[in-house]
Amino acid sequence: MKHPDTIRLQQLARQHLWMPFTQLADLIADDGPRIICRADGSYLYDTDGKAYLDGVSALEAMVAGHGREALLDAAIRQYRQVAFIDLFRYVTPSQIELAAKLAEITPGDLSRTFFTPGGGEAVEVAIKIARQYHYMRGEVDRVKVITRHGAYHGTTFGAMAVDGNYHATRNYIFQPDTFGRIAPAPEVGCGVEHVREIAALIERENPRTVSAIHLDPMNTAIRVAIPGDDFLPALRQMCDDYGIILIADEIITGFGRTGKMFACDHYGVVPDIMTLSKGLSSGYFPIGAAVVRGAIADAFTGGPEHTFRHGHTYSGHPVGCAIALENIRLIESEGLAAQAAESGAYLLERLQELSHHACFGGVRGKGMLVGLELVIDKATGETTTPPGKIGLIFRLACRERGLILLSIHPGNVMLIAPPLNMPRAEIDALVAIIDGALADTAKAVLQS
Ligand SMILES: Cc1ncc(COP(=O)(O)O)c(C=O)c1O
Repeated sequence: MKHPDTIRLQQLARQHLWMPFTQLADLIADDGPRIICRADGSYLYDTDGKAYLDGVSALEAMVAGHGREALLDAAIRQYRQVAFIDLFRYVTPSQIELAAKLAEITPGDLSRTFFTPGGGEAVEVAIKIARQYHYMRGEVDRVKVITRHGAYHGTTFGAMAVDGNYHATRNYIFQPDTFGRIAPAPEVGCGVEHVREIAALIERENPRTVSAIHLDPMNTAIRVAIPGDDFLPALRQMCDDYGIILIADEIITGFGRTGKMFACDHYGVVPDIMTLSKGLSSGYFPIGAAVVRGAIADAFTGGPEHTFRHGHTYSGHPVGCAIALENIRLIESEGLAAQAAESGAYLLERLQELSHHACFGGVRGKGMLVGLELVIDKATGETTTPPGKIGLIFRLACRERGLILLSIHPGNVMLIAPPLNMPRAEIDALVAIIDGALADTAKAVLQS
């Protein structure tokens, strides 16, 4: 039985709300949208009282979990002091302290932060900084940015340009002359051979026309194809050889998600620019950042032609910065990165126990960033056509059993990325639901 609030709110949503990547007919067919009215720890509750384990931390954001009082207190303290002032002309202590903290915790000489309202805007900023940097040095033809097939970096114009045909956001209605260039997708465990593939694309394009490569170091959107240990160091070397800026998009992987504070820390690699969002505030406020190496930031000092002409009214909102500072304090004091390493290893081990299922195509991951591949033929790795068909069936089976997951490129890979402090008992509950959902999926797909 639906609660009257559910019926009323669903009707209003269907009439007035435009949800991202959503077709109204699909929403109605799915009896949606589900209306979440309460959240605590790793659990979400809808208006009909159904509980769901949040297996993807609300689009990978809630690294510290839902309902953290310390983050609410930090927000209220900042609201009371200064609710808002624009960063164009004035600054509050929280913005300065956060920039300094990011310089301290990000790798190497990443030391200057440009704040944004969210992730896509941080990607825009990184690309614009890379292009202006080359331009100011007289390399005016360096405008192209390399991405990989299947990558997702957001939906603003710059971010669309580095989309790897994921959800078709690299959409030719908007970008017939895009400056993005798509290298092949990485394989799981990829190493120097993948760097050679990227280098081959750069050679074809002419290296002097390439400004940057933009990538998520863990290839999250690309089947969670966790790279081998030699990939990122070899890519760093290649960028240095060609004079190309390396942008590490740590919007998902940052802030402990992979078992270290940043994914780049696993490989001892310092990117030229790091983009951050999501875990930066654990989702308690929309905020993003591009953290830039000192030498690149220094190139923007000089006359007015050196000014970086970019900014959003809500870039580095003081409340977002205050929350982010407190969130980083929590991540550090509670050792959430180490917890992610331990819990992620346990989660992977438990998921491996499900390999007897007919649809189980394999699991892989780093920390609390795990990909589960769904297939219809384990021997060949064959999956449904389109691959999203099995992903959708499995995702709905999980939801029915009380677990929220996300399917990612090319549609048959499920992302499992819970809050980093998810207790063991809840990890066990999550695995039990996946166990049941794998059986449901086999029934629905293999016997159809
Ligand atoms: C790796 C990566 N980069 C960028 C973005 C875009 O961030 P936002 O949705 O805040 O614009 C996302 C969003 O999922 C992402 O996963």
